[in-house]
Amino acid sequence: TMGLQVAIDGPASAGKSTVAKRVAKKFGYVYCDTGAMYRAVTLAALQQGLSMTDTEKISELAKQIKITFQPAEPEQRVFINGQEVTRDIRLPKVAKNVSAVAAIPTVRQEMTKQQRQIAAEGGIVMDGRDIGTTVLPHAPVKIFMVATAHERARRRYLENKQKGITTTSLEELQRAIELRDQKDSTRKVSPLTQASDAIRLDTTNLTIDEVVAEISKIIKKTE
Ligand code: C5P
Repeated sequence: TMGLQVAIDGPASAGKSTVAKRVAKKFGYVYCDTGAMYRAVTLAALQQGLSMTDTEKISELAKQIKITFQPAEPEQRVFINGQEVTRDIRLPKVAKNVSAVAAIPTVRQEMTKQQRQIAAEGGIVMDGRDIGTTVLPHAPVKIFMVATAHERARRRYLENKQKGITTTSLEELQRAIELRDQKDSTRKVSPLTQASDAIRLDTTNLTIDEVVAEISKIIKKTE
């Protein structure tokens, strides 16, 4: 069989990428992290010293750079023009500026175009904010993953602790998550909203295994 298009959307740190990766592996699908693409454009703009308000230059840059992925464990590798940026796109300065870059309509147009090409053949799990609403409106499986801001901050805090990062308090993490939610939900172009035909999955009290099982059930039913 060809494999379906699976769209997974939701707010920051809801566990989308962890779950999407696991689901993709289970079904032999390709995984595409669209947040990494917006992060890559942001990193490239910062590297070139562009002002985050220079929407024209950033849009031009988004069209010029070639963003590619390579499957790897535990994290997919990301490249800009063949240069690895897997780590750099997670830097705090990128996180701080990505919402502004992702709000530029022409940047979104270009990323949407590239994402549709990546998903065209099916057999894909794509995670982001606007996959079910804008990028793949006809995807047969759409999941909208949510969890309370407190729970998302708690997960991120534990993840940081495991990595030996203890500089950011739980309260600070929660504030940053709430701020990003607010920016992503209120922007004019493709704001974070649940598609009318998406299945809402509240993961606040679920384990990763339980979420993967739930989505797998939905895919099997649809296949
Ligand atoms: O998923 P992640 O948190 O890495 O995404 C980083 C940022 O990229 C989000 O906060 C959002 O502003 C933007 N984004 C988006 N549309 C997507 C994926 C990410 O606007 N499909």
